[in-house]
Amino acid sequence: MRMRHVGLLLASIPSLIAPAVTAQVVSESIGDDIVRFHASAEAKANAYPSFALLDPKMPATGASPEGFAVEPDFFTDEQGRNSFTIEIGPGTSLYGTGEVPGPLLRNGRKTVLWNSDSYGYKEATQSLYKSHPWVLAVRDDGSSFGVIGDSTYRIEIDLTEDITFHAEGPEFPVIVIERDSPLEVVQTLAELTGKIPMPPKWAIGYHQCRYSYYPDSQVREIAQGFRDRDLPADVIWMDIHYMDEYRVFRFDDELFPDPKGLNEYLLNELNFHNVWMIDPGIGAETERFPPEGYSVYEEMIEGDHAVKTSDGEIYQGEVWPGWCVFPDYTQQRTRDWWAGLYEDFMAQGITGVWNDMNEPAIFNVESKTMPEDNVHAGDPEMGGGGTHARFHNVYGMLMIKATREGVQKTNPSKRPFVLSRAIYLGGQRYAAGWSGDNSADWWDLEGSVPMVLNMSLSGFPFYGPDLGGFIGNGDADQFERWFGYGVLFPFARGHTAVGNRQKEPWEFGEEVENTARQALNNRYMLLPYYYSLFYDAHTKGSPITQPVFFADPTDPALRTEDDLFLLGEGLLIKPNLTLHGDRAVTMPGGIWNKLNLEGADNPDIPEFFVKGGSIIPTGPVMQYTSEKPLNPLTLVVSLDENGRASGTLYEDSGDGYSYQNGDYLLSTYIAERIGDRVEIRITGAKGERKRPIRDMHVRLLLGDGQEAFGSGRDGSEITIELD
Ligand code: GLC
Repeated sequence: MRMRHVGLLLASIPSLIAPAVTAQVVSESIGDDIVRFHASAEAKANAYPSFALLDPKMPATGASPEGFAVEPDFFTDEQGRNSFTIEIGPGTSLYGTGEVPGPLLRNGRKTVLWNSDSYGYKEATQSLYKSHPWVLAVRDDGSSFGVIGDSTYRIEIDLTEDITFHAEGPEFPVIVIERDSPLEVVQTLAELTGKIPMPPKWAIGYHQCRYSYYPDSQVREIAQGFRDRDLPADVIWMDIHYMDEYRVFRFDDELFPDPKGLNEYLLNELNFHNVWMIDPGIGAETERFPPEGYSVYEEMIEGDHAVKTSDGEIYQGEVWPGWCVFPDYTQQRTRDWWAGLYEDFMAQGITGVWNDMNEPAIFNVESKTMPEDNVHAGDPEMGGGGTHARFHNVYGMLMIKATREGVQKTNPSKRPFVLSRAIYLGGQRYAAGWSGDNSADWWDLEGSVPMVLNMSLSGFPFYGPDLGGFIGNGDADQFERWFGYGVLFPFARGHTAVGNRQKEPWEFGEEVENTARQALNNRYMLLPYYYSLFYDAHTKGSPITQPVFFADPTDPALRTEDDLFLLGEGLLIKPNLTLHGDRAVTMPGGIWNKLNLEGADNPDIPEFFVKGGSIIPTGPVMQYTSEKPLNPLTLVVSLDENGRASGTLYEDSGDGYSYQNGDYLLSTYIAERIGDRVEIRITGAKGERKRPIRDMHVRLLLGDGQEAFGSGRDGSEITIELD
């Protein structure tokens, strides 16, 4: 049963005829065909600043457009939760809702937004590590809308019939984006909530991780192992064992006596970047290590930076170091203090930071997190102080906001790289993410595709799973298959838990090592394309991975297809997600020409197809992203039914911010068939960077694995004669 709100009537309705009826929903435009709804004028007046939107108090631009197709119906449910429903028409497909297990299509599903340490999650798990109060709806005709329920409280998203949100907090605004296609909805979501910052190029390479590599000699050996075997990689990761008694910002002086020397060796001798972990829990255990002398703890207490209990005491919860206290990132002064801690840390030659356990995760309590009545101070910009119930879902996001600022400040001329486990809608502004503690089994292997896609459809493009599985050993077949396709995800990292077997790509024998090499070679060959896609995400909010229904949003058969995925609009990836590769898939219509990369006859390497009309820039295989200049540049060309194709290539210095002052080159290439020949040339170039003098090769895909080749100089026209 629904109870409608009773509230004020809008002033525009003459009071004479105003009966005391249901609350008047307030609607206002906040952009072209973007409407914000409030349950009532009172709800509007009381709404908290938004954490999701770039502008927390985004002003209205005018009245909502006449005849806007979507309207939420606000109500209070039986549990007293503030709720709304948006009805959907037949044939409407629902996606998004952030990090969710199970299939791509979310119709019929319920998700509870409550950032949770969900070790070993499976399909029935209702809350993972991230909260995205966001649904993408694609109508039967392909036109689409997106819905933000702008609340940070625990929300149940119920898609069993229509789109219904139930929030445990006060009334909240609902924002609806109306567009012609799902791609435009996702791009508009990025306009509203922020596009990703341009990552340093090395972060788009392969990352190797384990819980944990130690001592430092093992870190060197693993990195060397990649170089000795010609397995391309850019980054090695330090998990919690580097810390002194798991205390953040402190190094174990036996296992890691010289972190700076280690980092310098990795970078200068082996061309490996490094990422080190920092958790939010600050060790406070007096018995194991008197906090006297642990300046992070001392500063935390002296500066009054900790989250408090409802009694006003400093809250303590158990995590890796035993009892911990937790920074209250809802205050600018605490975020500034936290950011400042990175100065000495980064001075150790650290190139990237991994923020984990920031739901926040607490051990040995049923809720797995801090009490909901804990108190956060909350700056006025955040709508003032409040309970953990309000700030829980944004705790991790506020942490990484501060971390990013700290990392940026220590090295203003570099692009920060931060990875986070907990995220809230908009978190793509601060960090990349991964799908937490998955398991080494086939369900997780195949489930990685829809997870990455739904995050992508939720405005979060830089994301991937622990390749090979975090929990458990798995086996060679499974590792090989997962690695063979998984290194194509935007964030590509192998990781596994303490106690498991070694899972570096050579540990499962020669066959697996060869597959891993083919997979990594393909990733690195495609780097020019990836980097251009990241630039598109950074500038236009375009998703890097896309579901295949994006290729034809009117085709109902594609709406559930989640064994395939697209990189950008032009490259389709078809992995075998079952051991025997025996599952039928639905390819989008139109021209999709097969592209043979390395391992074309290896079932553990996915098949690649290039959309008719696309040009994909590729480069030489290399061992790390800055090893070689892009020479030759190889354009993979797939003509459409009119004999045309186009594509872009983005290039810059790979790090730093000079690109913002024109130091970049964005080239648009086109191919045109004229009679019996195909001409390939540049139609436009932006940016002030000089075109390098380099060779350009063209692979013209003719279907059925046939190709024609051309070559010349980049910048001049190349002609391929067809016989
Ligand atoms: C958590 C993380 C995992 C990490 C471990 C130890 O389980 O999800 O990735 O390895 O903590 O830090």
